[in-house]
Amino acid sequence: METRSFGSTGRNVSVIGLGCWQFGGDWGEVSDLQALNILSTAVESGVTLIDTADCYGDGHSEELIGEFLSMIGSAEDFGLTVMTKMGRLANPHIELAYCYDNFRGWLDRSRKLLRMDRIPLVQLHCPPTPVYSNNEVYDALDRLVSEDVIEAYGVSVETCDEALTALEHNIASIQIICNILRRKPLEKVLPAAKAKGVAIIARVPLASGLLSGKFTETTTFAPQDHRTFNRFGEAFDVGETFSGVPYDQGVQAGREVARIAAEMPGQPTPSQLALRWLIDQDGITTIIPGASRVEQARLNAEAATLKPLSPEILDELEQIYTKYAAPHVADKW
Ligand SMILES: NC(=O)c1ccc[n+]([C@@H]2O[C@H](COP(=O)([O-])OP(=O)(O)OC[C@H]3O[C@@H](n4cnc5c(N)ncnc54)[C@H](OP(=O)(O)O)[C@@H]3O)[C@@H](O)[C@H]2O)c1
Repeated sequence: METRSFGSTGRNVSVIGLGCWQFGGDWGEVSDLQALNILSTAVESGVTLIDTADCYGDGHSEELIGEFLSMIGSAEDFGLTVMTKMGRLANPHIELAYCYDNFRGWLDRSRKLLRMDRIPLVQLHCPPTPVYSNNEVYDALDRLVSEDVIEAYGVSVETCDEALTALEHNIASIQIICNILRRKPLEKVLPAAKAKGVAIIARVPLASGLLSGKFTETTTFAPQDHRTFNRFGEAFDVGETFSGVPYDQGVQAGREVARIAAEMPGQPTPSQLALRWLIDQDGITTIIPGASRVEQARLNAEAATLKPLSPEILDELEQIYTKYAAPHVADKW
């Protein structure tokens, strides 16, 4: 698996990582055994970056990763970089919650669940926008680095403007939604991050599964799956579900991505095509597809072995964006 250097941290990470929101309950049923098998398959396939958050399953995702790490020995033994997020346990979720005392409490809980003394990277988990320009927040994070609680910190953002604000501070990474249907980060955020040596983590790379091409207009999801309960942004930012693209439009886009993949030499899966598109974007450090099945984790890691996409395919994918997604997403986020 190709690896890339991760910002200023001195770490190298696999270009395909693993997102672990799926182990938290917001994706329907993923059993603990399935989750552990997904983790081991991903690592066996060359994945060295694992992304989670303290709120996924109220800590259960972190707990399973901790169990997995203890089963294999330690993260260091396998060169793994485990990254979590904090902030979303705050109730109410307000700017004032982003302070040293809360950070310390949340991180101590994450360290215990992950079974790690020092967390390689913590990300602010899409906080209220003013947090990104609050110097006291960054001072608190620097203090946690000096206390050896964390090695480095980054931010997860909803908007490109938030990313550009955070780039004025000493962050190691930005996690942002970027995929065939969400291209705005390519305009300013990726070049600015590259110029500053800040790592970019592309999340929701498959538009919550739409880009796998497997959904139809009549597909239904479990009641506890965010693709049921957040389709219109009822619970959190609508951009986190299907990348903010209306479902029917996204299904048609997925179908066209699948047609292109089927016509390619070697016939990659549509998901692999979508991941390869991201690998080829200048400024992307790593991509973190989520997986609810073992086979998905294996196939997603394999996307790193595909050849770079041809100009003709890039052009076709851009037309899909223009037709199905741009009218709904280009002016947002
Ligand atoms: N605010 C934040 O910071 C934030 C928000 C969202 C996500 N994240 C992180 O980003 C990660 C990735 O985003 P995401 O999980 O929301 O979306 P995603 O990676 O775009 O989509 C994941 C879903 O795509 C489907 N899928 C994955 N691989 C597949 C394959 N090879 N073939 C067919 N279908 C496949 C699965 O759907 P089925 O389950 O239906 O099979 C899977 O649950 C998360 O796990 C999380 O770590 C962070």
